Amino acid sequence: MAKESASHLKGQHVLLCVGGGIAAYKSLELVRRLRDAGAEVQVAMTAGAQQFVTPLSFQALSGHPARTTLWDSAAEASMGHIELARWADRIVIAPATADLLAKLAHGFADDLVSTLCLATTAPITVAPAMNHRMWLHPATQANLATLRARNVQVIGPEDGPLAEGESGPGRLSEPEAIVASLAPVAEALPTTTPGALHGLKVVVSAGPTYEDLDPVRYLGNRSSGKMGFAVADSARRRGAEVVLVSGPVHLPTPAGVTRVDVRSAAQMREAVFAAFPADIYIGAAAVADYTPRAPATNKIKKSNESLALDLVRTPDILSEVAAQTQGLKLVVGFAAETENVAGYARGKLVAKHLDLIVANRVGVADGGFESDQNAMTAYWQEGERVFTPGAKTRLADELIDLIVERLDA
Ligand code: CTP
Repeated sequence: MAKESASHLKGQHVLLCVGGGIAAYKSLELVRRLRDAGAEVQVAMTAGAQQFVTPLSFQALSGHPARTTLWDSAAEASMGHIELARWADRIVIAPATADLLAKLAHGFADDLVSTLCLATTAPITVAPAMNHRMWLHPATQANLATLRARNVQVIGPEDGPLAEGESGPGRLSEPEAIVASLAPVAEALPTTTPGALHGLKVVVSAGPTYEDLDPVRYLGNRSSGKMGFAVADSARRRGAEVVLVSGPVHLPTPAGVTRVDVRSAAQMREAVFAAFPADIYIGAAAVADYTPRAPATNKIKKSNESLALDLVRTPDILSEVAAQTQGLKLVVGFAAETENVAGYARGKLVAKHLDLIVANRVGVADGGFESDQNAMTAYWQEGERVFTPGAKTRLADELIDLIVERLDA
């Protein structure tokens, strides 16, 4: 990771949350390194952390009294915990224990640190440290996946000898490495406009559809659903009521979003229309264009050298949605293209009567299906916007910004 990213810390308010693990002693050094990089640091400690290091040590190094509990009336009087959450330009949790990761993933707010993390809009970085079996446990890994999907930056842990005399992944990254790896804030969480979609209902389709050939086989595509899920999450964070109609994917449901799982294009169409009336429709799903005319009731046996499938067109959900204008303020489509991106995308914008179409080039390295990254351009009748390639979560936020703009246009 680029060392120069530490320069982004100059003048930044960093809230360091310290979890309860033996690695907490390294967090003292982390305070020093953060301050060396120009950051102003305040420290919040869990009860567990205080078993390993004293608040006084953090006070001496940070120049601020370390916060230890939600119920400290003197501390609350000088800066309430909500104020502290707002003060932070970023939150760094080091060491992040398995317990803290679980609390964060599930939105607990039963102590100072978890409450601060729930109350903040600042980007969060976690530097986990724990026993290697705890780290590798599916529960911990699932919690991490949830946090990553929410754009939480994860640094480490390192592989090596652990406190209990064992060895494996679980060591807290060195303070110097943590400071060097902290992503610039803009990359960690883009600017959002909280409340911009308040009072509006947004229906998002996401993922692939599976068209069954027989009881064991289907026609599908490589859509992961990540972009649609990120868009749903982003719309929700701007205050919209969001219904996410999803094909078969392996993704956690974004917080506060109503999810409807479907399998086929026909089911997706039904679920989308069941979710109406709505103000905005965002068709991010990679809907199958064809489905078997008559799925076999029993497994198709191999017999001839070749097999011809009899397929019929699926309903074009997006076109149908755009055709029924009742109440809808904006209809947004996606176009996955391998060539002539602008030409095909603009063609679909007109043919499907859309307000906006988001095109991305698929079939290139590091983008499109399955990737966390994307490169995309949005087109509307009178204009276009090229988005800087990057994380789908950031692009989703920028797309929602554009949607808010187009609503007002
Ligand atoms: N779409 C839809 N229903 C379908 C097919 C596509 O709602 N049966 C939507 C997708 O959700 C996406 C947009 O239409 O928002 C573009 O889909 P795409 O498959 O790229 O375009 P097609 O119109 O199917 O054209 P082609 O496959 O020929 O590129």
